[in-house]
Amino acid sequence: TEFISANDLASLLDVSVNEIISVCMSLGMFVSINQRLDAEAITIIADEFGYEVEFTKTDEEESEVEEVDSPEDLEPRAPIVTIMGHVDHGKTSLLDYIRSSKVTSGEAGGITQHIGAYDVKTDNGEKIAFLDTPGHEAFTAMRARGAKITDVAIIVIAADDSIMPQTKEAINHAQVAGVPMIFAINKVDKPNANPNKIKEELANMNLLVEEWGGKYQSQEISAKTGQGIDELLEKVLLEAEILELTANPNRNAVGTVVEASLDKGRGYVSTVMVQAGTLKIGDIMLAGQHYGRVKAMFDHTGKKVKEAEPSTPVQVLGLSGAPQAGDILKVYDTEREAREIANSREQINREQSMRTKKHITLDEIGRRL
Ligand code: GTP
Ligand code: MG
Repeated sequence: TEFISANDLASLLDVSVNEIISVCMSLGMFVSINQRLDAEAITIIADEFGYEVEFTKTDEEESEVEEVDSPEDLEPRAPIVTIMGHVDHGKTSLLDYIRSSKVTSGEAGGITQHIGAYDVKTDNGEKIAFLDTPGHEAFTAMRARGAKITDVAIIVIAADDSIMPQTKEAINHAQVAGVPMIFAINKVDKPNANPNKIKEELANMNLLVEEWGGKYQSQEISAKTGQGIDELLEKVLLEAEILELTANPNRNAVGTVVEASLDKGRGYVSTVMVQAGTLKIGDIMLAGQHYGRVKAMFDHTGKKVKEAEPSTPVQVLGLSGAPQAGDILKVYDTEREAREIANSREQINREQSMRTKKHITLDEIGRRL
């Protein structure tokens, strides 16, 4: 992708365009005034003038996931939910309970592999996708890359404890991201549980729950006995209904990488939450600086799948490396397109790391002197 013209770069760097052109010539690049420059050229030229370029995402890129579809192409999609809360308040227990009670079997020998996301079907057949990453990571790491992946946040609060620092942090994350929250007041099976105290504390933070006349849904649950969990899921679906979540399943897929790793037997495996379009075997995909064809896909139970629709988490094989959590995965029509973007991203990363190395070397010398 080309970014700006030599002329525009000149005014950004506050030098004349002639200086730009002559620097280019000295580097063996011949450019004209209105020629648009790619990332590599911009980085090199700016460097000559003592600038370090930081490429940030444009609005267009950031809203990739929400590419404009005509309304008639949109279809309802399942909500994507993140569970957050203070240490030991029961996030993992809640996820485990939901997974073990709602994940339809078909799992080979009952072995559930741990992947960073999974989806469940509620008793009346509606789908909900869960992100099984520490909530804070889901919000910070992913949001840092401009990825918005959560539709609804469940804030778990232990009824035998209080609103704790990480509870507040979780609430804050959700509010900043504009993601609706549902409070799951957990551990109500415990004799010393006091859900009303929690609701009171919430009220003191200006978060009035529905049964007290406020706008926040809350549900008393026990991740141990399962009490209230069906009701909690119903509330998630209710919240989702209000949001009118939709996506166009009939276009090139776009999703967010939840995690990725190198598997000895299978190569690079990335867990991706598909957010729009349908990801298919054979698609040409790009995530971060890695690209490749979708060789195989597995759902969270390890079952092979051929396609993944919006709001579906899948493990994907076929990328040339491991992208980072939060990277956007996109399908392209041609391998050439994907390769070019991958190469230019790789180039930028390489230059950035070279620059870092250079600094380190200089520092080292400085210290020795
Ligand atoms: P971190 O991952 O460390 O932040 O904790 P967490 O929020 O995932 O909490 P976790 O699910 O690990 O639960 C912490 C402890 O509380 C464990 O010993 C659970 O067995 C217990 N626990 C969780 N939910 C309940 C519940 O509903 N009732 C009771 N009695 N114990 C629970
Ligand atoms: Mg946990």
